[in-house]
Amino acid sequence: MTINSSAWQTVFINVNLATMTDGANSYGAIANAALAISDGKIAWLGKATDLPEYDADTVKVIDGQGKWLTPGLVDCHTHLVYGGNRANEFEMRLQGKSYQEIANAGGGIVSTVSATRKASEAELFAAALPRLTALHQQGVTSIEIKSGYGLDTENEIKMLKVAGQLAEALPVTIKRTFLGAHALPHEYKGKPDEYVDLVCNEMLPQVAKENLADAVDVFCEGIGFSLAQTEQVFAAAKNHGLPVKIHAEQLSNLGGSELAAKYNALSSDHIEFLDEAGIKAMKAADMVAVLLPGAFYFLRETQLPPMELLRKHQVPMAIATDSNPGSSPISNIQLMLNMGCTLFRLTPAEALAGVTCHGAKALGLSNKKGQLAVGFDADIAMWNIEQPAELCYQFGVNPLNELYVAGKKVV
Ligand code: NIG
Ligand code: FE
Repeated sequence: MTINSSAWQTVFINVNLATMTDGANSYGAIANAALAISDGKIAWLGKATDLPEYDADTVKVIDGQGKWLTPGLVDCHTHLVYGGNRANEFEMRLQGKSYQEIANAGGGIVSTVSATRKASEAELFAAALPRLTALHQQGVTSIEIKSGYGLDTENEIKMLKVAGQLAEALPVTIKRTFLGAHALPHEYKGKPDEYVDLVCNEMLPQVAKENLADAVDVFCEGIGFSLAQTEQVFAAAKNHGLPVKIHAEQLSNLGGSELAAKYNALSSDHIEFLDEAGIKAMKAADMVAVLLPGAFYFLRETQLPPMELLRKHQVPMAIATDSNPGSSPISNIQLMLNMGCTLFRLTPAEALAGVTCHGAKALGLSNKKGQLAVGFDADIAMWNIEQPAELCYQFGVNPLNELYVAGKKVV
């Protein structure tokens, strides 16, 4: 292969690379390396001793002084646009009430729905921006943001528009997910099928028509939607050419992951109660298992996701913040890396794969994000660390040194 180094704009020298091109098996590490960027893409990478000649007068040379480069991080599951907060429910849970009890008593998701409906686009934007900024400052360059706190056409669209505005405000790739089937709004109490009809026949067509979403999600659970209702939403999504994903097997096993596999879903998320049949179906459908240790921690769950079986069947595991006001009020990706290891017993390489290559796959971005590889987007984080495991080992001190998006320095 001939290398056209005259097209390079930037070259990192004196760096170590965690390329994340080997899935969760290893960091894909290259020590004493270099990496070149051309037109926002990675043009070359390898051992420093193999670095082709280039014109140091026209290329910007960045001396990494032995720091590590990883792909920009991917947070593939968030609900970070919402009104208000639920600290009151946190107190109730500390006094012994469960997440389900609070939801059944009219709290939970629907209490955030009231606050979100009341908020203007500008107010939602102002509330979400610090959460997104915090993640971005920790190296996140791609993120998913769900609707699901509007639960009517106007307010679901309002949330998705705010998510779009966030993408204009910060140099972060944002994938938007329509989650109209997140909970039953109070005006449809006792009429879940009518609400699902509204989701399928009014909300989803409007969202698709205005191009406001990249995927469709359903909360399939006893306190959410049944398997049959979930399937109705998935069928409607398919009609509109939108990929699906699912909140499944979080509090019980309804078989949501297997259903999602039938629809070639991108991912199944939470999955503490997932069984081997579901795992096999996910593998056959090339799905990602998205683990959300923040929600597990915050709800003080005890049922661990089936990591051993996921490994055995080689289902890629992503990790995400699930940033939301009820079950994971957390906008900290380093904490998720740490909890992925301490709570879910992932190896640091598995955890890092969870927020890079596998997170990108969960968003349908596996051919351009989440790896340091030639032709991939030059979304690159430079870290003040001596070994990649440090990214999972500590939190509280931000190890991010610099962040590049499409080859441009943004942090
Ligand atoms: O991913 N499981 C459903 N949805 C969110 C929680 C939303 C909320 O409690 O506000 C989750 O955990
Ligand atoms: Fe969620």
